Amino acid sequence: MRIVTILGSPRSKGNSTAIARHFTDAAAGRGAAVETFELNRLSYRGCQGCYACKKTLDRCVLDDDLAPVLAAVKEADLVLMASPVYYGDVTAQLKGFIDRSYSYLKPDYITNPQPSRLEPKKLVFVLTQGHPDQALFADIFPRYDTFMRWMGFVETRLIRACGIGPGTIDAVPEQVLLQAEEAAHDMVPAAGQ
Ligand SMILES: Cc1cc2nc3c(=O)[nH]c(=O)nc-3n(C[C@H](O)[C@H](O)[C@H](O)COP(=O)(O)O)c2cc1C
Repeated sequence: MRIVTILGSPRSKGNSTAIARHFTDAAAGRGAAVETFELNRLSYRGCQGCYACKKTLDRCVLDDDLAPVLAAVKEADLVLMASPVYYGDVTAQLKGFIDRSYSYLKPDYITNPQPSRLEPKKLVFVLTQGHPDQALFADIFPRYDTFMRWMGFVETRLIRACGIGPGTIDAVPEQVLLQAEEAAHDMVPAAGQ
């Protein structure tokens, strides 16, 4: 299985990245090939709304550091997107990627029962937040999940950690790390199976 990990935190050794790594380590142990992109190290623009991907091309027209990320996702069987919560949403870094993924949608995606140019894939979405109340920011994943399903993510799973951040504890609870391992076990077939 080919896994592409997209890290949305500017903190290389942060909480969301630690959870992502836990998942990919477990997945690699099951024989998966893992490719990781740290968005904060890349130079790219947000979607320009030019609609070239709907009018003339089947991909994003922008030729910047996000082009290989968008190409790698196309080839992946499972994509992991990880982000801290920033002002009640994903980081600007991840939102920039998500907006550019508009290029995966066919021109008639609103009416087409098969709206995506992508082959079916699995998605793991990792979110971490400083606030301990799980009810806060619980809207983020369902909002993006709708679009991810249009894009061809047929099986999706959220892994969340609340109440962690530099201002508080900044240590991912063991229970969340176990959830990441469980997700790898459930979603990544062991090599040879
Ligand atoms: C600019 C900024 C905005 C933030 N906004 C929120 C927020 O809206 N809700 C929240 O619970 N935590 C918020 N936080 C805290 C982070 O989500 C939290 O520290 C998270 O665990 C960091 O993850 P990371 O280590 O993967 O970067 C914010 C932090 C920053 C720097």
